Amino acid sequence: MKFTLRAAIVVAVFCAVSANVTVPLKRKRIVNEYINTQYVGEIAVGQQTFEVVFDTSSYNLVLPCESCLSPACQCPGTAKYQKTSNTKCGPSNEVVSVPILDTGCAKGTQASDCLNISSLYAPEQGFVLATDISIEICILGADGVAGLGRPGSGKAAFNQPTVFETFVNLHEIECVFTIHHARLPNGDHYGVITFGGVIESYYTGEFTCVPLVDDSTWNFKLDFLRVGNDDVITDAIAFIDSSKNVVVGPTLEINKINEALGCTNTVISDINICQFDCSQLGLVPDVIFGIGEKNFNISAEYHVQQNGDVCYSGFSPCNETNVYHIGDFFIDHYLPKFDSGNKRMGFAISTENL
Ligand SMILES: *[C@@H]1O[C@H](CO)[C@@H](O)[C@H](O)[C@H]1NC(C)=O
Ligand SMILES: *[C@@H]1O[C@H](CO)[C@@H](O)[C@H](O)[C@H]1NC(C)=O
Ligand SMILES: *[C@@H]1O[C@H](CO)[C@@H](O)[C@H](O)[C@H]1NC(C)=O
Ligand SMILES: *[C@@H]1O[C@H](CO)[C@@H](O)[C@H](O)[C@H]1NC(C)=O
Repeated sequence: MKFTLRAAIVVAVFCAVSANVTVPLKRKRIVNEYINTQYVGEIAVGQQTFEVVFDTSSYNLVLPCESCLSPACQCPGTAKYQKTSNTKCGPSNEVVSVPILDTGCAKGTQASDCLNISSLYAPEQGFVLATDISIEICILGADGVAGLGRPGSGKAAFNQPTVFETFVNLHEIECVFTIHHARLPNGDHYGVITFGGVIESYYTGEFTCVPLVDDSTWNFKLDFLRVGNDDVITDAIAFIDSSKNVVVGPTLEINKINEALGCTNTVISDINICQFDCSQLGLVPDVIFGIGEKNFNISAEYHVQQNGDVCYSGFSPCNETNVYHIGDFFIDHYLPKFDSGNKRMGFAISTENL
């Protein structure tokens, strides 16, 4: 007892780590019906505010600059960063190309300014000031992207820390964040990112923890994907991708899942979907994600996507990936903990609490 008390005092004196900080996320307008959800949160860079996608698949803070002429920057309502006397540019003048939102890309130069997120403040945050940015940003109704890729990955352009790492480096938060989604009684979706920990009312039960499989990504081992009683996929690698609303994975394997689910591949408005008969959804099996010797079930009600009278699979094939990108319909039910300090992911049952 004495020892514990003493330890607590030592921690209080020598650690500047404060409590956790929450950042509300809201779901944006629908631009493309088949890319129909995205959560954005507000940050301030310099004196301006931006709505950004907090993206676990990329590594830089990317904001469009005033001179950006690409279609995404012409999107109505896109806020563009205006240089002030506080803006630092360089030291590199190099134009780099950085991935954003998994499939997108931005080109820009090195800049920095002060940053506020919720109650957190950093005098200097590096970012990529983009002169060119792909259309995803407009489709998702955001101004920019705040990469939340794995700290210390070495993958960030100009070696810039992510916004999360900045506050970890300033000892303002612990090296962990969580993403919570909730649905309000009126059906609206709502989200919260908690930097530095997890709010207890956001989950029930215990966290199931699994080790991260490398030092530069949030990848973990997905033991299986089960449809009905069949383990359609085994021994896969996955990560929680906050830039996705569905699950994206390797084409052959996803096709097997869709076959097991009983949907039919078809093309609607140039988009490949696997379609269900909306009147037969009661027959569509649950999908079970096997992670860390626990089963995380998602019933058809949640994994089947609906757009008007078109029902389609939430499992989407992609030729360019060999890992599974697990998006919103999983996060809606299971709260992910990105625990870089302990090199692991945690998952707990999410509540509907705000
Ligand atoms: C950012 O935080 C600092 C320090 O708390 C505060 O002085 C400043 O007004 C904030 N800026 C914005 C744009 O919110
Ligand atoms: C985060 O905040 C909640 C509520 O204030 C508290 O219960 C929890 O212990 C905090 N966690 C950390 C890691 O600070
Ligand atoms: C998981 O299964 C239980 C029991 O059948 C069900 O009540 C729950 O809604 C399912 N969860 C999800 C997210 O589908
Ligand atoms: C993916 O690869 C398959 C087989 O090589 C090919 O038939 C298909 O057109 C590709 N799909 C896309 C979207 O590139």
